[in-house]
Amino acid sequence: MSEPTSRAAAGARIVLKDVTKVYPGQPGPAVDSFSMDIAPGELIMFVGPSGCGKTTTMKMINRIIEPTSGSITIDGQDILTLNPNELRRRIGYVIQQIGLFPHMTIAENIAVVPKLLGWDRNKIRNRVEELLAVVELDPKTFASRYPRQLSGGQQQRVGVARALAADPPVMLMDEPFGATDPITREKLQSEFLRLQEKLSKTIVFVTHDFDEAVRLGDRIAVLSDHSSIEQFDTPANILANPANDYVSQFVGHGAALKRLGLIPVHQASLGPNVAVRGAIEVSVNDSLRDALDALVLSGGTPVAVLNDQGRVVGSIDIEKISAVLGAEILPPALAGGVRP
Ligand SMILES: Nc1ncnc2c1ncn2[C@@H]1O[C@H](COP(=O)(O)OP(=O)(O)O)[C@@H](O)[C@H]1O
Ligand SMILES: [Mg+2]
Repeated sequence: MSEPTSRAAAGARIVLKDVTKVYPGQPGPAVDSFSMDIAPGELIMFVGPSGCGKTTTMKMINRIIEPTSGSITIDGQDILTLNPNELRRRIGYVIQQIGLFPHMTIAENIAVVPKLLGWDRNKIRNRVEELLAVVELDPKTFASRYPRQLSGGQQQRVGVARALAADPPVMLMDEPFGATDPITREKLQSEFLRLQEKLSKTIVFVTHDFDEAVRLGDRIAVLSDHSSIEQFDTPANILANPANDYVSQFVGHGAALKRLGLIPVHQASLGPNVAVRGAIEVSVNDSLRDALDALVLSGGTPVAVLNDQGRVVGSIDIEKISAVLGAEILPPALAGGVRP
C-alpha cells in the first residue's frame, strides 16, 4: 500500500470556547456555550440523538455555519479571521450523503481541492492514484468511472479519499458511514482506523451510534440537547463510569461486553498452559471479547493463548477476564443466581 504519511501534516489543535449558535427565528440556541480542547491527532466522536446539535457544532469549525458567539481556533489561529474558502481547503469534510459530483469521474471528484490549489496535472494524477490505493479502490478500474457506477460503500471510500486529497490537518466527518449496510460499515470503520493510525489527523466524527463511537474514538463527547456535553472521556472510562443516567442510557445494554471489546488479551494475567493444541485458541492481540466468545464455544474450558509467533503462552478463562474489569468473582455458593 502507498504511504501518504510522508507528506502528511500532523493534526492541528482545535479549541472551541463558549461557542453558541442561535438560528434565526428559533427560541433557543441549537448549540449553547460549547467548549472543547482537541489535541493534535485526536479522533473525537460526537455522539447524541438526532437534533441535539452535532452537525451544527461541527459545521461551525469550517464555517459552513457561522457561530453566533464564542471563539474557535485551529493551531491558535482564530478561524473567524481566515478566509472561509481557504479555511475549508485546510479541512477535509465527509458527509453522510457523500456528495460526490455526479457528472465528474471519480478521479475528478478526488481532484477538486488540489485543482483549486493549483497543483500541476502530474502531481494531481499521482495523488489521485495514491489515494484510491489507500481506500482500496483499484485506480485502473475506478478512476475513470462515474459515481453512479459505484456501490454505496465504494462511493463512501471516494468521499474519504476526496476529503484527504490536499492532506488537510483536520477532518470533519458527519455520519460518514451511516447510510451503509452493517457489513460495509464495519469494513469502512476498520479501514478508516488503519488509515488514521498512519495519518494522525485531528478528526471530529459525528455519529448517533454509540458502538461506532466506542470502536473509533480516542475520546467520546456524549451530547444532549443544545449540544450540552454530558461526558467527555475515553471510551473505556465512559463504559466503566458513565457520568449520569443520560450517558448510561446511551451506553445501553452490555457495557461489560463493550469494555471487553476494547481490551486486548495480553492485558489479562494468563493462566498456565493447560490447553490442547488444535482446540479453540485466541491471539494475545485479540480482544477479551473474542476470548469470551471462544470460551463460550469451548464450554468454559480454558482457551489457549498464542503469541505473534503462534506459540502458546498461556490460557485464559472467565475469571481472568472478569479480573481485568475488576469484577468480584463470587464464591460458587453465592453465585447461584437470584434468591427468593
Ligand atoms: N438551518 C436551520 N435553521 C433553523 N434550525 C435549524 C437549522 N439547522 C438545524 N436546526 C435545528 O437545530 C437543532 C440542531 O440540529 P443539528 O445540528 O442538525 O442536530 P444533529 O446533527 O445532532 O441531528 C435542531 O433542533 C434543528 O432542528
Ligand atoms: Mg446531523
